[in-house]
Amino acid sequence: MKGVDHVNLPQLNINGKMTSIPIIQGGMGVGVSLSNLASSVANAGGIGIISGVQIGFREEDFETNTKKANMRALAKEIRSAKNLSPNGIIGANLMVAINNYKDMVKVAVDEKVDLIISGAGLPKDLPSFVKGTDTKIAPIVSSAKAASLITKLWLRRYDYLPDLIIVEGPDAGGHLGFTVEELQGSTPLLEDILKDVITAIKPFEESKRRKIPIIAAGGIFDGKDISKFIKLGADGVQMGTRFVATHECDAPIEFKKSYINSTKENIGIISSPAGMPGQAIINPFIKRIQAEREKVSKCYNCLTPCNPLTTQYCISKALINAVKGDIDNGLVFIGKNGYRLQEIVSVKELIDELLGELKKS
Ligand SMILES: Cc1cc2nc3c(=O)[nH]c(=O)nc-3n(C[C@H](O)[C@H](O)[C@H](O)COP(=O)(O)O)c2cc1C
Repeated sequence: MKGVDHVNLPQLNINGKMTSIPIIQGGMGVGVSLSNLASSVANAGGIGIISGVQIGFREEDFETNTKKANMRALAKEIRSAKNLSPNGIIGANLMVAINNYKDMVKVAVDEKVDLIISGAGLPKDLPSFVKGTDTKIAPIVSSAKAASLITKLWLRRYDYLPDLIIVEGPDAGGHLGFTVEELQGSTPLLEDILKDVITAIKPFEESKRRKIPIIAAGGIFDGKDISKFIKLGADGVQMGTRFVATHECDAPIEFKKSYINSTKENIGIISSPAGMPGQAIINPFIKRIQAEREKVSKCYNCLTPCNPLTTQYCISKALINAVKGDIDNGLVFIGKNGYRLQEIVSVKELIDELLGELKKS
């Protein structure tokens, strides 16, 4: 790969799978990170993650046969990403809160995906699905307590140490593992959560004599941020928002433009049928559903915690509208620093810029 040379950059070792740069592109649904973005990041030396949430939205039978359409599309996207990046590391992000979680995990493992990352709940039984395979697994946590809990559980039930742990702070785009009250008050900083997770995980690493790479996520914008979190003890970072403003991102141009046009003031916390708050652009759609409940005309049966009779809006419809370019009728998740984006660049340009800044700091 031409551009910034990778010599002396920290590498990520995910229980035997090595990357040349310590950057994971976070899974972004619906349809924001599919095979095009994931393979481009993997080809640039990072880890590309396909989001599995309602991934079948372009399949012909999505409306009538949603589960099967999602499973088929997940298999297709993993195959396509692996074809486009035969030597890269490709993962799938599968949210625990989705209704067909186990089926989707099985598809990803059958397709020999390199890594499964699961948040929006604790992936308690994930090790049972990867036994005897080469697929690595990682939980997303937002506290040291959750990190200890899932590590203890996996060890007790499956004698399995997480291959990687993602620590996501309050500035991330998408769903957040904090209460609205926490987010309005003094939410812990990613820096502090990260330090606590590193301390909490140490005894498990010592007992098994194996290092668990810890990844910081949420609000990481430039190479200086990456350097800061590595100095604090992180082994790498997961970034979402910055990868949306790339040519290779699978979202339509209207979605990317809404990022470029966002302002500090119109990025905020919303409530979600997933039962957790989310960080999004406060656009006409959000203002409308905040004022009045939008009746659900069709339920996709997507999220375990959602009740279609009482939900304020249908999150599947809102996310699919956004990824089809109907931004004013859609939900656009974004990280807190998204307003700082000025232009759409290529993945290679972005990674070169990040690595250049990282090397200088
Ligand atoms: C548009 C968008 C969609 C996202 N969708 C998901 C998702 O489906 N599952 C998930 O675990 N995280 C999701 N995330 C979180 C990202 O994977 C990542 O952790 C986060 O964006 C990091 O924060 P940053 O955007 O400030 O870099 C999403 C984020 C964005 C911006």
